[in-house]
Amino acid sequence: MKPPPCEKPDPFLCRVDAIPDGEARGFPLPGEHHPRAVLIVRQGHEIYGYRNRCPHQGTPLDWTPDRFFNLEKTHLQCATHGAQFQIEDGHCVAGPCLDKTLERVPLRIKDEKIHLDIAHETQKP
Ligand code: FES
Repeated sequence: MKPPPCEKPDPFLCRVDAIPDGEARGFPLPGEHHPRAVLIVRQGHEIYGYRNRCPHQGTPLDWTPDRFFNLEKTHLQCATHGAQFQIEDGHCVAGPCLDKTLERVPLRIKDEKIHLDIAHETQKP
């Protein structure tokens, strides 16, 4: 008899209310060294997840832990050369990587808990 498939639970990141409205937090990803390999942004009831990796040169966006925004908090901002990204889709609207986008991270939100959606991630070609 064939053993059941090994199913890993999707990694739990945090509760929704652990990220204040209008703020962002960084989290590690399994198998990656950077302690904030992914960033999660909360805007009201919307939650967005991106790789913490600038499309310009691949550096983390935050200049100090969990500081992902420009001063006005209207855009995500790269600490290295100042590229600015729309919060809702990660599209770069200013800076050296204009028109590129942050890599979105699939999330699953259930019972006010945010998980990485690994099942969705493995369905990618
Ligand atoms: S590395 Fe982000 S703008 Fe250059």
